[in-house]
Amino acid sequence: MSEHGGNSVEVAQQLSIAPESLLDFSANINPLGLSERVKSLITSHLDVIERYPDIEYRHLHQALAMANQCDVEQVIAGNGATELIYGLVRALSPRRAMLLVPGFAEYRRALVQHGCEVIEYRLNEEQGFQPDRQLLEAVRQRRPDCLFIATPNNPTGLMPEPQLLIELAELCETLQIALIVDEAFIDFLPHGSSLALRLTHSRYLYLLRSLTKFFAIPGLRLGYLLSGNRARIRQLKNNREPWSVNALSSLVGQYLLNDDDYINVSHKYIARQRDYLWQALSQFASLLVWKPTANYLFFKCIKKDIDLKAALLAHRILIRHCENYPGLDSRYYRVAVRTEDENRTLIQALTQILTRD
Ligand SMILES: Cc1ncc(COP(=O)(O)O)c(C=O)c1O
Repeated sequence: MSEHGGNSVEVAQQLSIAPESLLDFSANINPLGLSERVKSLITSHLDVIERYPDIEYRHLHQALAMANQCDVEQVIAGNGATELIYGLVRALSPRRAMLLVPGFAEYRRALVQHGCEVIEYRLNEEQGFQPDRQLLEAVRQRRPDCLFIATPNNPTGLMPEPQLLIELAELCETLQIALIVDEAFIDFLPHGSSLALRLTHSRYLYLLRSLTKFFAIPGLRLGYLLSGNRARIRQLKNNREPWSVNALSSLVGQYLLNDDDYINVSHKYIARQRDYLWQALSQFASLLVWKPTANYLFFKCIKKDIDLKAALLAHRILIRHCENYPGLDSRYYRVAVRTEDENRTLIQALTQILTRD
């Protein structure tokens, strides 16, 4: 079974149904889908795939640097943020890494493949699954070579306190610990990243971004990494496999971050739908829902002996079971924010399931 959401092909195969007939709430993708601008850019430039992309991705890197108000030497694009997680682990070659648990699975996979020891920092339910100052203490005591933290976190959708993040960045800078802040979902937050301003003066801070979620291009693949450590960015550019970002992604990536209409419409639409889901899910006495910040919601089902994923599959709705996240169990789930009609369908199905006896 896949460790990720969005595995509708696998689930559909098990149920002997077509993947299109499943309503997929398991992958956190902007429900508005591709912007018209991106669609027409792709259809009118299909011929770019007849050539190799620029091996240095000059235009793409320039556009990403400009949008993030940094130098081109401080940014590298990747085949999704995932490529950069693996590339960064290879480049940093850490012996001990600290991970916040529960969290995104690929950090651990990349670290373990590299033979790195993983130190878990557990986020527990009593503390609302949020890190606090004890994290700073743990970093001081355990002295990892690197630390991954996702803001907002996946699967919880929670944002740590901005002040804690600033203190964490300062501490890691002082102790020379690489701090990888995964901002894969930061574009869903209208105010963006609170750490971006620190980038230029930091040598140990890395901001990891994904463009696949907000811009609904998980199949095209595109992400990028920002760091004030130019030598490290150069090392990453020099050592990776050539042409890993395809020509269409490279083209589209030059325009995504300027697509203000799509960005504004998405923020408004998702905020409205997220509020609807948050309120509707919170009405169920058997669900404990955490307040979302991005485009997905995390909740716990306290009703005994019920598998909500299986029950919803009978309605052809796929949600993310969180039982395979270290630190969680079969009572926890995650759902994406989808379109108005789809969100209503989910709530109707849950009403049938949770109020039937
Ligand atoms: C927290 C987090 N980081 C990174 C990624 C990888 O994103 P990409 O599609 O850009 O590889 C994901 C994908 O689900 C994610 O949830």
